[in-house]
Amino acid sequence: MSPIDYSRRVFCGQLTSADTGREVLLAGWVDAFRDHGGLLFIHLRDRSGIVQVVFSPEIGSTAVCQQAASLRAEYCIAVSGEVKPRLPGTENDHISTGTIEVMVKELAVLSESDALPFPISEKAMVAGAPSASLDHVTEDLRLQHRYLDLRRPSMRDHLIARHRIFQCARQFLDSRGFVEIETPMLTMSTPEGARDYLVPSRVHPGKFYALPQSPQLFKQLLMIGGMERYFQLARCFRDEDLRPNRQPEFTQIDIEASFIDEEFIYEMIEELAVRMFAVGGIELPRPFPRMTYAEAMDTTGSDRPDLRFGMRFVDVTDLFSQTQYSIFRQILQRGGRIKGINVQGQSDRLSKNVLQNEYAKEIVPSFGAKGMTWMRAEKGQLASNVVQFFSRGEQEALRARFGVADGDVLILIADPSHAVVTSALGQLRLHLANRLGLIPAGRFCPVWVTEFPLFEATEEGGVTSSHHPFTAPDRTDFDPRNVEELLALRSRAYDLVVNGEELGGGSIRINRRDLQRKIFDALGLSEEETMNRFGFFLRAFDFGAPPHGGLALGMDRTVSMILQTPSIREVIAFPKNRSAGCPLTGAPSTVKREQLAELGLLNLGGTDKLAGADTAENRVDHLSWVSRIGIAAGERAMMEEVLDQAEALASIATENAGKEEPIWGVVPVANRTRPGTRAQRSPLAETGQLLKSAPAVKGSYFKVASILE
Ligand code: AMO
Repeated sequence: MSPIDYSRRVFCGQLTSADTGREVLLAGWVDAFRDHGGLLFIHLRDRSGIVQVVFSPEIGSTAVCQQAASLRAEYCIAVSGEVKPRLPGTENDHISTGTIEVMVKELAVLSESDALPFPISEKAMVAGAPSASLDHVTEDLRLQHRYLDLRRPSMRDHLIARHRIFQCARQFLDSRGFVEIETPMLTMSTPEGARDYLVPSRVHPGKFYALPQSPQLFKQLLMIGGMERYFQLARCFRDEDLRPNRQPEFTQIDIEASFIDEEFIYEMIEELAVRMFAVGGIELPRPFPRMTYAEAMDTTGSDRPDLRFGMRFVDVTDLFSQTQYSIFRQILQRGGRIKGINVQGQSDRLSKNVLQNEYAKEIVPSFGAKGMTWMRAEKGQLASNVVQFFSRGEQEALRARFGVADGDVLILIADPSHAVVTSALGQLRLHLANRLGLIPAGRFCPVWVTEFPLFEATEEGGVTSSHHPFTAPDRTDFDPRNVEELLALRSRAYDLVVNGEELGGGSIRINRRDLQRKIFDALGLSEEETMNRFGFFLRAFDFGAPPHGGLALGMDRTVSMILQTPSIREVIAFPKNRSAGCPLTGAPSTVKREQLAELGLLNLGGTDKLAGADTAENRVDHLSWVSRIGIAAGERAMMEEVLDQAEALASIATENAGKEEPIWGVVPVANRTRPGTRAQRSPLAETGQLLKSAPAVKGSYFKVASILE
């Protein structure tokens, strides 16, 4: 091919039948190919889409056709040729360019590709044919080759949609007078409840920056700095327990404004959310309803209520005040509560066996409650294993309170602790909704959750902030030493929840220094500690801090919800895996000793070596080094004793090696701790006894509980 003039390049996905007869230059990747003896068809893919290109000896030279025969999936190529309509009957309605093809005259192989670790092509060449599936590809393999994964049209579409949603947010916030300002990444700790990622300083040996858990302190300082309306697409870093909807680094749209109140935030964020969801073709119902934290907990057992379906809690404690049913009576005598849900019209799908053996015996106890009571409504009566213990009056009152009709299933949970009732019933509500398919697909139910408690109790008998310590309380005349009074305070915080997921949260802040100090006092921070950690921040409040407030929307979660992906990792270009690692780069990784030394990290305790790094050294230090667990001076004697015992045990095992019975295994594997011993498969595994409690058995395969995301 003559030198390629890329300025002539057109995009594969933009060709239409209006281009018929046009000579075009295309560049991209071989998505798929099909050889029809002499005629070679290729799906050429670039970011815009796919077009079929055809190598025919009647059009291209022999050299071009020969070279084409060597093309394989994901070779990067450029071709030039003429756009032609496809023959009738050979159109492919799976691709937008399916009515045309390009007859190739020239071909350049720009670079070759190895065999692929997983299929990339998602569009079958022939209309109706199945395309390759990724069902059996592990996520880590995809992440390890993320650059290939991103070539898949669905991943590309996710990232482009993410970009559109971000652009939509930027434009909207700009139109409302918000200024995009960057805040530092190398900074002091910001309290958001997680651990910090620390960055050692070379220039200040032994000192560390913290990566921001959020730009919280800086955005408030921007308000004190008179910027009035700020936003940022902010990267945040939190070293916390991993969950499916959490990443160690993630992106927020972080917002703050001065001289505003809650109503300003509700109106603006509603408009922003409606616009962002509209980018994904979703119309959010407006206005967003509001629910206090107390109401959300009372009726759904969660501060993230999923309002897409009913099954709201009904309190029936009062109906059983005179009950003869001893379990309820005892619970009520201990000040307990009884609450329940009506699973309407589902009695056909919730058999006695499922209710008693699965839910009452297994599932509900796993949610922390001791048990549950169920009743099925049949022929105008309530039927269950306990209903005979309820008086006629109690049964009638239950039917009336729940509005029971035949086919309904009532489930009650009673417990001395109201928190246990709420939490277990909340989990049960979600479990049943998922199992019975009661959550309508394509439905979006946003809700503002308001009036959170300002503080939570700590195990030590003090309090900690539910949100963060800069959140304004609903009143200021409290005694910072009276824990009971503190726990009764409400905050001016709000969360935006959609379909049971917290998309964003924020609050009106404290802007008066005396109140901010009082909150730190309530948190049990001494004047000295407060000044050490937040002195710079509190000092700013000495210079006329304006009233202000804001919110941050988790963008990975928001985009994932708009695109309805199974996990937030599907909308992040290079996410970490479930164990906070990056299979692509291998991060986190070890570093050279010289690097540690340069950062002053080897110089701990005045030596240039980390205690325990050498095997020959003290065994307690060595244990600490290999396990990465610090052993305090006071624990050393006890550790010495434990190690003595371990060594004694190990020597018995070595002496007896080969003398006693080999350890049984479920599968016949070699016993590496005792080389030479015979590996044996347990007879219990052979007979199936070992896994006899598995929910289902097929041949020698056992069904185990699925892991839900
Ligand atoms: P908060 O801690 O509630 O508030 O965070 C705001 C939103 O960020 C998202 N989010 C996460 N997303 C992915 N992975 C994580 N690990 C993760 N953690 C949080 C959630 C959450 O609702 N500074 C305050 C905001 C403010 O008060 O203005 C803050 O960060 O969607």
